[in-house]
Amino acid sequence: MDEREIELEGYVERDGKRVAITAAYASRLSLFVNFNRGAEIADGIEFNRLVLNIADEEVEFCKCRFILERTRRGFMGRLIFMDDVYDFENIIFKKKFVDISTSFHNLPLVLSQKDQIRDSFKNYTSKVVYDLAVHKYFFDDLDRKYANESEIVRQVAQKILIEKEGRKFMHFFDSTLKDLEREIADFDKKDHQSHGFYFRKQVWEFILGSEFLRRTNLKPRGYAGDSQMMSMCYENDYRGNFVFNKLMHKHPLETEAGHAVRNRRVFIPHVLRRVQKEFSGLPRWGFRFMSVACGSAVELQDLFMTADDSEVFHCTLFDQDIRALNEAKEGIEQIAKTREIGSKVDYLNESVRTMLRNPQLFERWGQFHFIYSMGLFDYLTPPVAKKVLKKLYDLLLPGGQLLIGNFHINNPNRYYMEYWMDWVVYYRTEEAFADLLDGIHDAESSIFFDETGIQMFLNVRKSA
Ligand SMILES: C[S@@+](CC[C@H](N)C(=O)[O-])C[C@H]1O[C@@H](n2cnc3c(N)ncnc32)[C@H](O)[C@@H]1O
Repeated sequence: MDEREIELEGYVERDGKRVAITAAYASRLSLFVNFNRGAEIADGIEFNRLVLNIADEEVEFCKCRFILERTRRGFMGRLIFMDDVYDFENIIFKKKFVDISTSFHNLPLVLSQKDQIRDSFKNYTSKVVYDLAVHKYFFDDLDRKYANESEIVRQVAQKILIEKEGRKFMHFFDSTLKDLEREIADFDKKDHQSHGFYFRKQVWEFILGSEFLRRTNLKPRGYAGDSQMMSMCYENDYRGNFVFNKLMHKHPLETEAGHAVRNRRVFIPHVLRRVQKEFSGLPRWGFRFMSVACGSAVELQDLFMTADDSEVFHCTLFDQDIRALNEAKEGIEQIAKTREIGSKVDYLNESVRTMLRNPQLFERWGQFHFIYSMGLFDYLTPPVAKKVLKKLYDLLLPGGQLLIGNFHINNPNRYYMEYWMDWVVYYRTEEAFADLLDGIHDAESSIFFDETGIQMFLNVRKSA
């Protein structure tokens, strides 16, 4: 049964009389209701309280009103609540009692956090806020002036504005980040957390104006680095209607960290071809490779170029996020169609954490000539990263290779990411990266970098 169809028993009470009901989720703030034993209730009738049986407990809700309406699934109508705002999504599906006062519980604590913020940081923040507001005002003013022009005239005007004043704004923004680095130079982890939180609350309006920054902060899929954010990064173009928003979207994509992400898209197909050449004489679709935490696997667009080369590879794409796998599938089907090539791809919707718990998964998957993972180890603690690395190593065929990516601790955009994007990753030094090889003995390994020096790669070859 779909969890939306869960039905709860209970009663409503009016002037001391109870009427038995069956209720179900209608919306976050309201419930569908049926009055049992044929009770006829008029539209607008109010009850003093509702009691529902949730997970074997009686839970009481405040005064509610019956709204007669034709509903899906044959309910008589809806109950809306008069004295309190409840979150039925949490109450029914997660069995967590949440009303409006619960979400305000932390308010005093969060408000008091500003007392821990250093005065010089407050000054820095208010200067940034003022300067950005003034820039926005100037750009918005010009946007308004040509708002009534035809689309083509507007586009050309915006392009000129972006190339001239926009570029100056990008440099100005860079300078605010240099000041930020100076301001936070002696902070520890706790200081970064409290000051980052404070900072984002002040610049929230600017964050929301940028499609990229909005997504990294709101994390609609629950984590930073989802396939949509990666697509924006690969696309590296302007998005938004207004010039200021376009600039605020593009600036974070132009960072060296952004280049480092784009570099791996080009690098992976190159390595795949090189490793594949080491295994000559394999049948059609004979070279097996896997991308772990594949996201939308855009790099494969540069691998499956012709019918000849795509028929060499049998590819396995593994990700915990079904939306990312669907995007990967659409992308591959699209190129297969336009380039008139075949492809052999398996999709595995699993988490590396379940992979660690369930050894049978490996037996099902078989072994691979090449396994790579980009943008995953940056989120794994050393104990988990070691276990994942060992499992992946065990999945290699003799002579096969592993290629793992991790951002280096010297990422110059680290605090831009943490303060503006709320994007915190697990940075590693070369030593810490090499330490992950702990339980792997019969391997040849090396560590190297892309040209930005941010994207670090660990290459491991299993002896033949
Ligand atoms: C930063 S993206 C990298 C995507 C792709 N490799 C790239 O370089 O563009 C991270 C991906 O890791 C996936 N991921 C995160 N944790 C995972 C886990 N525990 N198991 C499997 N996939 C995971 C996410 O769903 C997301 O698609």
